[in-house]
Amino acid sequence: MDSIIIQGNGPVSGEIPISGAKNAALTLMPAALLTDEPVTLTNVPRLSDIKTTNELLQSLGTKISMKDDGQSITLTTPEITNHLAHYDIVRKMRASILVLGPIIARHGIAAVSLPGGCAIGARPVDIHLKGLEALGVNLDLIDGYVHAKAPKGLKGTTYELPFASVGATENLLMAATLAKGTTVLKNVAREPEIVDLAVLLRSMGANISGDGSTEIIIEGVETLHGTTHKVVTDRIELGTYMMAPLIAGGEIELLGGKRQILESFCQKLEEAGAQITETTRGLIVARKNANIHAVNVTTEPFPGFPTDLQAQMMALLCTAEGTSVLNETIFENRFMHAPELVRMGANIDVQGGTAIVTGIKELRGAPVMATDLRASVSLILAGLAAKGETRVARVYHLDRGYEKVVSKFRSIGANIERIKE
Ligand code: UD1
Repeated sequence: MDSIIIQGNGPVSGEIPISGAKNAALTLMPAALLTDEPVTLTNVPRLSDIKTTNELLQSLGTKISMKDDGQSITLTTPEITNHLAHYDIVRKMRASILVLGPIIARHGIAAVSLPGGCAIGARPVDIHLKGLEALGVNLDLIDGYVHAKAPKGLKGTTYELPFASVGATENLLMAATLAKGTTVLKNVAREPEIVDLAVLLRSMGANISGDGSTEIIIEGVETLHGTTHKVVTDRIELGTYMMAPLIAGGEIELLGGKRQILESFCQKLEEAGAQITETTRGLIVARKNANIHAVNVTTEPFPGFPTDLQAQMMALLCTAEGTSVLNETIFENRFMHAPELVRMGANIDVQGGTAIVTGIKELRGAPVMATDLRASVSLILAGLAAKGETRVARVYHLDRGYEKVVSKFRSIGANIERIKE
């Protein structure tokens, strides 16, 4: 298994191009199941989660061709030849559940393995299933698989999500495009990736309004057609690299970055002492001579502070002046990076969904290990400013979500390498 070694070596400078969003691509790709015509996605990040999605879609009957070294993917599904998403693929990636809505809408029958829990919590899919039932789908749970049937097609309805789940909003939005009549989805997620999905579906011929607000209205259509779509910028990758100059000092430019997709996060960074400037090319972020101050953070659905940037924020606050309180409200077990940061000298007290971080002067390098994607990158960020060597094990998590992570950090002067062990 590979490890990443970082030697803390002071300020960073330079520029980093931000890739297309993993979390957008993971729903845009299954949306291609809704039509028999080719759907081409550009600006696709080259990640192992994308490979897993390709594998899953191929197992269902999708033909896939790639260009531009994998950044452009054309997905064509003349027919769904297999309606079962196997446990072997679903267990690798929870987002596999996103094929359920498209398959049942187009094919009238689907079976998808239940994803089960993961390192950051139980993560049930009850809202996906209740919403599909409201659309007229009959569901059975047999041997760990959700079996869905809608022989007469889906029927438009009004459904209010009990929580603004990102994945459930995506599944129901895709399914409702081919339902008969009007569907009104209330209390939906408003993430930019949801808007990106609605943009794709509209360009495939769907009739959707309200995306980006709490209520989405979908007028069902008979069929959808092919299209070409550019994947939106990855706001989590953007936010992650914005941390580098704040932790290590210096100034960098994030090409393609936009403040609008990370407003509440940018406000917190500014409160902590960051200088953020929007340019025509992206965002410039600097710490310059300013010190980083403690701030309190609560994760929330968009437009609130993203849970996917909580671990990185904790890494920053470890050396801030004062005591910060981090409240994690989206996932129940998302502080597994805390004990690893403590190994590097951080002062963190975790009590349930709250972490109290008391800033120290300097972190020390240490061998550390991470159990999820965002936790892994937070340890690299901590290593940028730590004294000595930090060795991050289990880097396969990073391959799921950060394209060219080592070369991107190197391009801003970080002393980082990947080694085989
Ligand atoms: C997506 C993102 C993930 C991000 C998360 C929250 C993708 C591929 N992943 O995950 O990176 O951290 O949004 O911004 O886009 N829940 C239920 N029942 C459900 C669905 C969700 O109880 O049916 C709970 C989950 O257990 C979790 C919370 O709701 O505690 C948020 O989940 P959700 O918004 O659905 O996140 P994902 O779509 O899984």
